Amino acid sequence: TNRTFTMIKPDAVKDGHTGAIIKQIEEAGFRIVALKKTQLTGERAGQFYAVHIERPFYKDLCAYMSSGTIVPMILEKENAVADFRKLIGATNPAQAEEGTIRKLFAKSIEANAIHGSDSDENATIEGSFFFANMEQY
Ligand code: GTP
Ligand code: MG
Repeated sequence: TNRTFTMIKPDAVKDGHTGAIIKQIEEAGFRIVALKKTQLTGERAGQFYAVHIERPFYKDLCAYMSSGTIVPMILEKENAVADFRKLIGATNPAQAEEGTIRKLFAKSIEANAIHGSDSDENATIEGSFFFANMEQY
């Protein structure tokens, strides 16, 4: 088994979808390794999304991601990164498949309900951005 990192984004937390999203994640066979509720500052959101610094939507993205409470989690499953990206669906909810978390809960390409790491390496880096080693069980 291996691990991925996710966070429920501010729009989905605000709208009260945290429980429904966690239920869907567990029913898809992921074990929750670590979980908390927190809020990013604009600066920390900028660090988290530093790979997108040159993109036109970077400033908006950092403002949005620091606008409210988020729920970061580390998850464990066989083939975790790829299976989780399948479970959440396309970045743009208009293009997300039926039944995916983004199809069900995302509002727009920016406020798209949930994040999922795009590689094993980034899953480790992103998990450690939010959780100490002793919290990752
Ligand atoms: P994450 O799991 O959050 O990393 O999403 P992703 O991997 O599906 O998409 P990507 O890494 O390319 O973009 C990161 C985040 O930036 C997205 O989840 C959106 O919240 C936001 N984003 C991506 N493309 C756009 C865009 O064209 N416009 C705006 N406003 N936001 C975007
Ligand atoms: Mg991404």
